[in-house]
Amino acid sequence: MDAIWIEGNRTLSGEVTVQGSKNAALPVLAATLLVPGVTRLLNCPEISDVSCMCEILRHMGARVERRGKEVTVDASELTGCRILPEHAVRMRSSVILAGALLGRCREAFFFQPGGCVIGDRPIDMHLWALGRLGVFFSGREGEIRAQALRLRGAFVRLPFPSVGVTQNAVLAAVGAEGTTRLTNCAREPEIGALCRFLRGAGADVREEGGGEIRVEGGRPLHASTFWIDADRIVAGTYLAGVLAAGGKAFLRQAPWYELKAALKAARRMGAVVRTESHGLYVERTGRLLSPGELVTGVYPAFPTDLQSPFLAAMCLAEGKSSIRERIFNGRFGVAGQLNRMGADIRIGGDRAFVPGGRRLSGCRVAAGELRGGAALTVAGLCAQGRTVVENCHFIRRGYEDIVRDLKELGADIGNETEVPPDEGRQV
Ligand code: UD1
Repeated sequence: MDAIWIEGNRTLSGEVTVQGSKNAALPVLAATLLVPGVTRLLNCPEISDVSCMCEILRHMGARVERRGKEVTVDASELTGCRILPEHAVRMRSSVILAGALLGRCREAFFFQPGGCVIGDRPIDMHLWALGRLGVFFSGREGEIRAQALRLRGAFVRLPFPSVGVTQNAVLAAVGAEGTTRLTNCAREPEIGALCRFLRGAGADVREEGGGEIRVEGGRPLHASTFWIDADRIVAGTYLAGVLAAGGKAFLRQAPWYELKAALKAARRMGAVVRTESHGLYVERTGRLLSPGELVTGVYPAFPTDLQSPFLAAMCLAEGKSSIRERIFNGRFGVAGQLNRMGADIRIGGDRAFVPGGRRLSGCRVAAGELRGGAALTVAGLCAQGRTVVENCHFIRRGYEDIVRDLKELGADIGNETEVPPDEGRQV
């Protein structure tokens, strides 16, 4: 059974090391396709999205070896440039492979991803940005063929600072002839990670500040070794866990300098937060207060990926609170499951209204997507009785082992191997 059980209403106490970042690892893995040599990635998270990306790279002809957190990609010779529909469906971010494939082979085949559980995820801006670099598109039965007889540098001002579009454009620009100037780029830390990796492999990629990136394309790339930094969203999820359950925790390696908006919210909610050179200490022993309204936005604003875990904690806070989601248009799916636990969240347009002051009660709930699944686990930590979160394969897309980590923080939690058919069905 693909489920996690949690015996809730127990404060946390302990230390845990935060895993490597999913959103840094995936574009760096895509970028290895630009390198006609061997790339070694260290601290690569052991999550299913990384497995899927490795499978896609193998399908392109790269030789990929994975030993724990070390991944070696030898892309000296590629044999294909087609992303299969089954890969595209499993991982929407596979679209960023298009930029790398175009940069290396001048051609890529991929699929238009459909709507998704966190809202529409169109790829119009990806296509437009690649088009600015000389890419032409044709399509048949949902498959898009991207081709560039001449891939050439250009001035590209993104209409919106999209993370994926910035990555795609940088990857294509590295393989293009001449200078590309990208403005209004995303400034998420994962963009910096990709640029650092590319520089380490010999590319001329300069982050000019103010959302501008300048790429001198066509430099020969070579073998390199790259360390994937810690995952700010995993750290933020465990922070939300401490807020919800109470107690104290030290999150080793947590990149607190990338989490300023979340730390500000945590302080407003009554937590004591101390930043240290090698991690983040968080304590919530007093009352859990409402943070008022949290508004998601592009970095450095409050990250959309953390709104669900914080939503879970806000259910218990004293006083009303709300979340305004400004990045994705359908990202409150988890509210229905939290309401099954007694949260009483109401959705109106791009806002979730949380009455607060509720005691959640454990029951069987089901994850519908990655961060929603993590949020249900957070809710389970503070609920009365036993919560069972089903469909945990969604959680494994981004969390190495949420059960192991929360156990280290003192939670009473486990993987459910077999559940008696009616256990936990209290609603
Ligand atoms: C990345 C992250 C994801 C995070 C998101 C926002 C990865 C693997 N995923 O996703 O975890 O939640 O950034 O921080 O790093 N858009 C368009 N047209 C396009 C592309 C995007 O309209 O062609 C819209 C999206 O629908 C969304 C907004 O732009 O509303 C932001 O999306 P984007 O920044 O591109 O997110 P992703 O790169 O998909």
